[in-house]
Amino acid sequence: MRDDYIDFIERIKKRTGIDLSLYKEKQMKRRLTTLRDKRGFKTFVEYFEAMMRDEQLYYEFLDRMTINVSEFYRNFNRWETLRTQILPSIKEGNDKLKVWSAACSTGEEPYTIAMILSDYFPLKDITVHATDIDDQALNRAQEAIYPERSLKEVPEDKKAKFFTKRGDHYVLSDDVKRCVKFSKHNLLADQYKSTYDLIVCRNVLIYFTEEAKRQVYQLFSQSLVPGGVLFVGSTEQIFDPQQFNLSVARTFFYEKQA
Ligand SMILES: C[S@@+](CC[C@H](N)C(=O)[O-])C[C@H]1O[C@@H](n2cnc3c(N)ncnc32)[C@H](O)[C@@H]1O
Repeated sequence: MRDDYIDFIERIKKRTGIDLSLYKEKQMKRRLTTLRDKRGFKTFVEYFEAMMRDEQLYYEFLDRMTINVSEFYRNFNRWETLRTQILPSIKEGNDKLKVWSAACSTGEEPYTIAMILSDYFPLKDITVHATDIDDQALNRAQEAIYPERSLKEVPEDKKAKFFTKRGDHYVLSDDVKRCVKFSKHNLLADQYKSTYDLIVCRNVLIYFTEEAKRQVYQLFSQSLVPGGVLFVGSTEQIFDPQQFNLSVARTFFYEKQA
């Protein structure tokens, strides 16, 4: 008998373009089995068929598989390293940087980048491309209204300058919102743009298989200009960066070689 989960993976790929086989199987299967059981389906194929009839179920599945957790200035010290040690050298001779926040979730990361860049450039000269596979996350990112807990690492001066409190939420200023251009992009299937000075991709590669990760690092490297920098998440250090024509600039930061 065919494996029910493998069947599910194939159907999802055909219908949505999302290839679950490139995500670590044990974790993904566990997460989805819990959800499937909660909704009362005995097999993944039954669950898939129900999902195709009921949009709500499909969005719930997407939500569970994507894991949109994020916050502004997540791991504050790393952003300080970016601000004080990495940016001064990559901005040398550039009056505008080309920046990509890949797997940006609900926007906290690309907006953090824009706020940090505002220490060096006027806001009107800042553009951050921000992409994610998840439409719902991108919609929320564009609304840019956040609960207090997302802002706990935001420096006081930036909070005062760029946020307005409304009820128990914070609304980001239009000046910062205008800096970020959101679009949908699947890191495991879509074309990558090139000539980036900085690519930030954090807390998504941990979910991918080793092979998928290697493919993504290779594509990131090709997307950077020589001297450009890739900034990765806390548990996503690259074991052998030279194989991707990258070298360690600082812990969690990799520079593209000439
Ligand atoms: C945990 S969040 C990370 C958000 C942000 N980068 C951070 O570190 O705070 C992971 C994001 O990766 C996105 N994602 C998962 N698979 C993806 C793929 N194949 N291509 C693009 N984004 C993906 C999810 O939708 C989710 O928003």
